[in-house]
Amino acid sequence: MAIHGQTKNQYRALRAMAIESWELRSNQPIDEITPDSISHNQKKNDWPSLNTRICNCTACDLHVHRIQAVCGAGNVNADCLIIGEAPGAEEDGKGEPFVGPAGMLLNEMLSSIGLDRNVVFVANILKCRPPQNRDPSLTEIAKCLPYLEEQIALIDPKLIIAVGRIAAQSLLNSNQAIGRMRGEIYQYGKNHIPLVVTYHPAYLLRSPAQKAKSWNDLLLAHNILNQVN
Ligand code: URA
Repeated sequence: MAIHGQTKNQYRALRAMAIESWELRSNQPIDEITPDSISHNQKKNDWPSLNTRICNCTACDLHVHRIQAVCGAGNVNADCLIIGEAPGAEEDGKGEPFVGPAGMLLNEMLSSIGLDRNVVFVANILKCRPPQNRDPSLTEIAKCLPYLEEQIALIDPKLIIAVGRIAAQSLLNSNQAIGRMRGEIYQYGKNHIPLVVTYHPAYLLRSPAQKAKSWNDLLLAHNILNQVN
């Protein structure tokens, strides 16, 4: 009989030498363990390691000037994941996404469809602040996106709301203008997570006339969440 993959004699010999053997936590062969098959509790354990990797990341030059990386914040079991562009000065200082004026408007937008900021998870395409809040470069996006992909796999949300052009284009691998992307339900990734696009709250602060369109996008998001719950 095999114990933890060893024969009884090997097991006894290892025990006699006080060597503890490693044990697979599930009966599944290791090459069959996929992100989908990881249990809820095991998934939760991956957040600390992911956040540590993000906070120590030096994959692009943005790490040089950051005060801190902004991993994301909120409910790790959220139905709804909000994805913005990148931290600004205030987020860089506080280590939390969307805490400046755009964040205040984001909170209002969420509450208009009955979502408290604490029930959703908020993250960005980039985890570090681009200098002078310039647009992220394609290289920076490519280096940083795997972190967001891990976050999406861990949260496994029922809906993603991409706020702003950079988030929408990066997630949907598109060059389209945001005005043409909004108003539709997309499917993200192999789990076909519904994704809707809306204007960035910083843009809405500059162009309040567009708020009505954003309201329609939020209603679309609300309807999707109602259908899945
Ligand atoms: N704008 C974003 O896109 N993300 C933030 O976290 C703050 C401002």
